[in-house]
Amino acid sequence: MAKHAQSLIDRLDQKVFDAIYSRSLVYNTCWEDPAVDRLALALRPHDRMLVIASAGCNVLDYALVAPAVIHAVDANPRQTALLELKLAGIRQLEFEDFFAVFGDGHHPRFGSLYRELLRAHLSPFARDYWDRHGHWFCEIDPGDSFYYHGLSGTVARGFRAYLRLRPALRSAIETLLESSSLEHQCRIYDRDVRPQLWGNGLNWVLSRQLTMSMLGVPHPQKKEVERQHERGVAGFVREAVDYVFRSLPVRTNYFWTLYLRGRYSADCCPEYLRPENFSALKRGLADRIEVHTCTVTEFLQGTRERISRFVLLDHMDWMSSYYPEALAEEWDAICERATADARVIFRSARREPDYLDALRLVDGRAVRDRLQFHEELSAALQVRDRVHTYAGFHIADIRA
Ligand SMILES: C[S@@+](CC[C@H](N)C(=O)[O-])C[C@H]1O[C@@H](n2cnc3c(N)ncnc32)[C@H](O)[C@@H]1O
Repeated sequence: MAKHAQSLIDRLDQKVFDAIYSRSLVYNTCWEDPAVDRLALALRPHDRMLVIASAGCNVLDYALVAPAVIHAVDANPRQTALLELKLAGIRQLEFEDFFAVFGDGHHPRFGSLYRELLRAHLSPFARDYWDRHGHWFCEIDPGDSFYYHGLSGTVARGFRAYLRLRPALRSAIETLLESSSLEHQCRIYDRDVRPQLWGNGLNWVLSRQLTMSMLGVPHPQKKEVERQHERGVAGFVREAVDYVFRSLPVRTNYFWTLYLRGRYSADCCPEYLRPENFSALKRGLADRIEVHTCTVTEFLQGTRERISRFVLLDHMDWMSSYYPEALAEEWDAICERATADARVIFRSARREPDYLDALRLVDGRAVRDRLQFHEELSAALQVRDRVHTYAGFHIADIRA
């Protein structure tokens, strides 16, 4: 595969992306729907999983269906530091305190809880990181929350500041989030939110590479969206938001609600924040999670274990343009460690994972020839995805 021909702007954008990404917590929550993933993965008690950790929410979600082991892998040590903090919280905190920290996004006594109960259970990097960023969980300003920190959180904080300048839009969105029926939700969105929300200002902000970089979207991924959508990134996001608020019940959509409110609620939150699930994780399901700060390839080349379920998120969009050789090496390791009945799921800004076409394994075979895709199941699940910001959702069995 020819390396992505980089213009000066491209190289600059990539430098900016690498600079902010290599110093930051990018995802303070997982922006991929684990309820859809569970149906795609069809998890079994003996499954051994490799999951890219991101913010760790989905790792905790899969643990609730009790697979044998989940290897939570992420190359960004700040992402694994967040999962470590959640695991320490599950083991050391009572549910009310845990929900305040990761549900509300702040706790009045976070400092003492952290020092007395959590810090000792973290790795040196995670300890150093939360020593410096624990204040994100202390409500410095009224309405502040952990979910307004990190790169994606900073974009959410920017949108909150924008809504402060648009009180009519803000109250229309609040009414929308309170909707108890899809019919009422649609009416509020079409009549009050949509006409006020989409304007040149928001379109301009969404079409900036810096905004996308802060949302973890490097410019090859942004270019891909622009290539596929005649109205560019703003048009793509608008279409996704139209679908989410017109077709899926908002009252269970904890993804978009979080960034509009800065906090979860007891009846609109990830599964790990429900009391009965928190207890199940505390009673032992959380012990099935092993955290690894390294790349997917490094983990697979360093283990003798066989893996039956792979959750690769949309990280291949990151690698396919700039590191095709590294991606081919990663697929060699995946095929090498996969069980005979292994399954992989991943998302992409591309409808079709055509970046796999040119990838060759060391045995000369095309990666795509090792994959049996389930297009019908993907399509049937894609329409239920509450995040809905990925053009492609792919489910494939790895053939021998
Ligand atoms: C593209 S993001 C996916 C985030 C996801 N869409 C979400 O919303 O949670 C990729 C995640 O994978 C990690 N990552 C990227 N390339 C990786 C690799 N080769 N090995 C392990 N982790 C990787 C990044 O640190 C980041 O947390």
